Amino acid sequence: MKMTSRSLSRAALASAFLATSLGVSLVLATSAGAATTLGASAAQTGRYFGTAVSAGKLGDSTYVNILNREFTMITPENEMKWDATEPNRGQFNYTGGDRILNQAVSTGKRVRGHALLWYQQEPGWAQRMEGSDLRQAMMNHVTQVATHYKGKLYSWDVVNEAFADGGSGARRDSNLQRTGNDWIEAAFRAARAADPSAKLCYNDYNTDGVNAKSTGIYNMVRDFKSRGVPIDCVGFQSHLTNSAPGDYQANLQRFADLGVEVQITELDISGSNQAAVYGTVTRACLAVARCAGLTVWGIRDSDSWRTGENPLLFDGSGNKKAAYNAVLDALNAGGTTTTPTTPTTPTTPTTPTTPTTTTTTTTPVPGDCSASVSLNSWNGGFVATVKVTAGSTALDGWRVTTVLPAGAAVTSAWNAGQTGSTGTVTWANVTYNGTVAAGQSTEFGFQGTGSGDGITAACAAS
Ligand code: G3I
Repeated sequence: MKMTSRSLSRAALASAFLATSLGVSLVLATSAGAATTLGASAAQTGRYFGTAVSAGKLGDSTYVNILNREFTMITPENEMKWDATEPNRGQFNYTGGDRILNQAVSTGKRVRGHALLWYQQEPGWAQRMEGSDLRQAMMNHVTQVATHYKGKLYSWDVVNEAFADGGSGARRDSNLQRTGNDWIEAAFRAARAADPSAKLCYNDYNTDGVNAKSTGIYNMVRDFKSRGVPIDCVGFQSHLTNSAPGDYQANLQRFADLGVEVQITELDISGSNQAAVYGTVTRACLAVARCAGLTVWGIRDSDSWRTGENPLLFDGSGNKKAAYNAVLDALNAGGTTTTPTTPTTPTTPTTPTTPTTTTTTTTPVPGDCSASVSLNSWNGGFVATVKVTAGSTALDGWRVTTVLPAGAAVTSAWNAGQTGSTGTVTWANVTYNGTVAAGQSTEFGFQGTGSGDGITAACAAS
């Protein structure tokens, strides 16, 4: 429902009364006193307004002043990508990402993590890998990085730009894709197991209207929702030139109707019609209740990756452009109110309690293998991650037997073949993770309903 200025004023008055009675202050939008920053004006409808930030610019006072004044959400432009966070296999570097996170936390802003898996900006060592070895490295990367930032991020772009341009609606070829079509869902499951509180997003470009590429992604999201793959949000990068597709809002809405949050994630617009198009995009988000916020891909034109195109809201000197005023006016005109959602897994109850993590380890059998279970639990459901560790000799195939408590049932699984879903459930390696060197480990996981407390696991070579 689009709010009229009269209903907005009524809502504002009601909010003011509520805020006063709760003893909190609130920035209000009224025709007499509109909010004067992007963040405050977006907050009137429950939304955030964000920007990409480069850690290397946090010493630039003009940049930081605008950042602190205008924005309520930050996306690290490069610092949380694979090449930055795992420059050598198994060696993690969170310097830049932590710097941005600390800047955000100390100024009351939130952070969108970007991006766990992307075919670009892979570190050199990963670029040279394929197949099961790469799959293992990918999932380890997701698990490690999502664990490092556990509980601290608003959302994660778990997978970035995995679909091809053009009319096929198919996946893009990459070494990630060649590890098997299930790599995206495996990544989402690993991310959820590592950080149950971050919203998990798929993010892409050229998806800003209804077209073959966005429909391919739409079909994937619909499939994920129907099978209980944990996906919470879809990011629309919106790198636009001259115009937005006429069905920009309708496209956002069709994704929202699948039950996912939608986010404008990397907005920048070039061309002489820039201000008007910024207004159009902002209004489209405001009209879609599940559109949680907008992020522009940089602060000043001189910060943009689109060198020479001047596609942002501030000029190179940090002055507000006409595009800035178009966005601010659109935000102050109001729209649907968005209500924050928390990540939920479709097959679990809608009121998760604080997840708890427990680990059970079985005794290693020399020359054989051991299995340990790490459990993320919430009210009515759980994700179990099972670590299979080879003993003193290499494994060339393994089987794990898990015993679930009464009332628990497996609803989906990844990285292992499954037999049974309640009581004693057995698991076998899949093609890419049967070979495990002596003393090394591989992981599989499953999601279930009921309580997973007390799951036991035993491993045997096969
Ligand atoms: O840090 C090195 C520096 O040491 C070196 O001297 C210099 C020489 O070229 O390169 C620097 O790295 C650059 C990095 O940005 C940091 O500035 C890379 O070359 C450059 O390729 C990289 O570009 C980034 C690009 O992603 C990589 O594809 C852009 O800053 C960043 O804005 C852009 O962001 C992407 C999103 O992540 C996904 N969607 C598209 C968007 C635009 O391409």
